[in-house]
Amino acid sequence: MSTPKKRILSGIQPSGSLTIGNYLGALKQWVARQEVYDCFYCIVDLHAITVPQDPTELREKTREVAAIFIAAGLDPQKAAIFVQSHVTAHAELGWILTCLAPLGWLYRMTQFKDKSAKQAQEESIGAGLLNYPTLMAADILLYQSSAVPVGDDQRQHLEYTRDLAQRFNHLYGDTFTIPEAMIPEIGARIMGLDTPLAKMSKSEASEAHAVFMLDAPEVIRKKMMRAVTDSGRDILFSDDPEKAGVNNLLTIYQAFSGKTREAVEADFANARGYGDLKKAVAEITVESLRPMQEEYHKLIHEPGYLDGILRDGAAQARAVADKTLATVKHNIGFLAS
Ligand code: TRP
Repeated sequence: MSTPKKRILSGIQPSGSLTIGNYLGALKQWVARQEVYDCFYCIVDLHAITVPQDPTELREKTREVAAIFIAAGLDPQKAAIFVQSHVTAHAELGWILTCLAPLGWLYRMTQFKDKSAKQAQEESIGAGLLNYPTLMAADILLYQSSAVPVGDDQRQHLEYTRDLAQRFNHLYGDTFTIPEAMIPEIGARIMGLDTPLAKMSKSEASEAHAVFMLDAPEVIRKKMMRAVTDSGRDILFSDDPEKAGVNNLLTIYQAFSGKTREAVEADFANARGYGDLKKAVAEITVESLRPMQEEYHKLIHEPGYLDGILRDGAAQARAVADKTLATVKHNIGFLAS
């Protein structure tokens, strides 16, 4: 008898356009994992509304992300692709876990500190932003996921998920699988082009910050040429904060090319300056994104097809999630309906 495939779940918010950081840190490895694991990939709209969203734009972005998933190589035959709000178990388990979530753990989360600092006035910070990691824990635990493929910035949320699952299991008996973070060796941390010491974010306003997966070639070239570097000339990987810009460009090049660090550095041994590096990074980015963009532009004109995939994905997700939720409800003492 063959052993069942291990399950993985991951999610991306439909807030803003996906960046090459989302692709290299998450999406690319999601595609690679779909052969080996039982995969659930979700578009987390319930998470997106933890900060204000325009309703029309949110709907559009949700479909856009679905089209990008498929254009990037996710195969609906191999992975369940769905919208979080279509599977009501997420919100339900989210509430149940909220009642177990210590405020102290939540206030300590880096993402909450960063995002709440950005909201102008204290009273405009929604409780959802604080409780964001609890909903994320619900996403993961509903599927009894053994691993969660994410970028490096989600490490702390994964730790929180594990702690909360352990707390639940301790109080109510073994209910949840304790998940592991699955972080890629290369590309897990793509930094902003204008802020090489801070992660590339899809919701940063500055034009020079992020390359989006749907950016036109000219736009990508322009943004790469404007990337912050330093006054030196060494084109080498480095942990020196001064060299963070060059290190980031090399990391992008490495992640797209699949080469070793040595091979990447060798490619630039004869470069005449950072201009050559930027041009090469721009070209490999343009060429890597080109087939995905072509596929995306076909798919986005077929909303019926996309909605069908999301409907099937939600049905597959419900089959697993509702089973876990029923066990949870029983274990905490809810009367069966
Ligand atoms: N917090 C994740 C991010 O901002 C998105 C997310 C929500 C997620 N739920 C998840 C990732 C469950 C992995 C698993 O990138």
